[in-house]
Amino acid sequence: MASDTLTVTDNRTGRQYELPIRDGTIPSMELRKIKTSADDFGLMTYDPAFMNTANCRSAITYIDGDQGILRHRGYPIEELAENKRFLEVAWLLYRGELPTEAQYATWKSEITVHTMVHENIKKLMEGFRYDAHPMGIFLSTVGALSTFYPDAKDVQNEASRHLQILRLVGKVPTIAAYAYRHHLGLPYVLPDNELSYTGNFLNMLFKRTEPKYTGNPVLERALDILFILHADHEQNCSTTTMRVIGSSHADPYVSLAGAAAALYGPLHGGANEAVLRMLAEIGSVSHIPEFIRRVKAGEVKLMGFGHRIYKSYDPRAKILKDMAHQVFSVLGTSALLDIAIELERIALSDEYFVSRKLYPNVDFYSGLIYQAMKFPMEMFPVLFAIPRTVGWLAQWDEMLRDPEQKIARPRQVYTGSDLRHLAGVREPVGA
Ligand code: CMC
Repeated sequence: MASDTLTVTDNRTGRQYELPIRDGTIPSMELRKIKTSADDFGLMTYDPAFMNTANCRSAITYIDGDQGILRHRGYPIEELAENKRFLEVAWLLYRGELPTEAQYATWKSEITVHTMVHENIKKLMEGFRYDAHPMGIFLSTVGALSTFYPDAKDVQNEASRHLQILRLVGKVPTIAAYAYRHHLGLPYVLPDNELSYTGNFLNMLFKRTEPKYTGNPVLERALDILFILHADHEQNCSTTTMRVIGSSHADPYVSLAGAAAALYGPLHGGANEAVLRMLAEIGSVSHIPEFIRRVKAGEVKLMGFGHRIYKSYDPRAKILKDMAHQVFSVLGTSALLDIAIELERIALSDEYFVSRKLYPNVDFYSGLIYQAMKFPMEMFPVLFAIPRTVGWLAQWDEMLRDPEQKIARPRQVYTGSDLRHLAGVREPVGA
């Protein structure tokens, strides 16, 4: 049908090609048919940073960046954040439907029995220097899990994949908490299986000498919502890394270590840490105009602003802005929140940001909330990695089920020298 194809005329040869259009895309392999001669390789697309390339078909997360819409398996993020627990959303992302009561009970208990780590993992973590960044500890330790679970190499086996998913979702809070306590020189705290997922995480982080840790339920729920908001975000840099590494059939531990490394960068999950450093550097509401001037002059970036996909307000940032007020009403206000709110107000009325459609993203307010909850800045990317583990694994599992997927291997446009020879090496006869 004419409406489902694109007609391309090659001006070099005068030939016409009908390219099929499916789901708003053209299969780029179709372009290879466009050739000037039989020995021509054919046309490729050039797309640095995959700005306009769909790398997979996925049924997990839907984003409409212009309208600021984020849905998981069809459910709006706002409804999930308000009404569901993180582990319910985790199941939804992974299995496609919200869990029944029985499924939820089994899922929770199976994750709970996988929260402990091998004693040798503790020894491995003890080997890091006292000032090692917790994200470096986190991703190295997750990678090291690969050596503890060689059965994980059987990535085509559904039951094995499920077991690794339980292990990873269960263990990442434990590893994150140990990384934090290592930094402080505090003894590691064993998981408490009577607590919720986030309640246990807070226990492993903050328990001191009390026999039983009981956290503040408002903060426990706030962390649960933060985890929901960070659980998945379709084909971002770290998720793409997970899929690319996983496409070689590497096990999920090393794949996830690679994804966590991608998340570590300040343009991705490291941005929340960068936001707080920026707010601290601005220091006072009166310094904001000068800071905005420097942003517009290209001297610095307004961290926590802008997004490759969202060209309107990130829906997660909206939820977090409201949450920041709730958390601060429990924990007392912060001068940095006042700076953030005023910075947002000024930026959103400035032509530079308006014309580039730069709005606050998820990282603009999350760091402030984490800081109020007494997390050190270095822990922020780790706090992102724990819930995103669920998204990475759901995407990894989906990729391995997808018959269209193969080992990822992009092409390049070669821009180097033509053939040349080392000095003194004679060109072969006939070359
Ligand atoms: N501050 C100032 N100017 C900006 C910013 C910013 N934060 N972000 C983009 N711009 C400008 C950029 O300089 C460019 O201007 P011009 O057209 O004059 O050259 C224009 O806006 C388009 O930007 P871009 O670099 O082409 O956009 P991108 O899609 O490649 O980058 C981004 C997206 C998130 C890397 C970028 O907006 C950024 O670096 N933001 C700050 C870091 C940040 O907050 N990252 C967290 C992202 S959300 C969490 C996550 O998914 O990890």
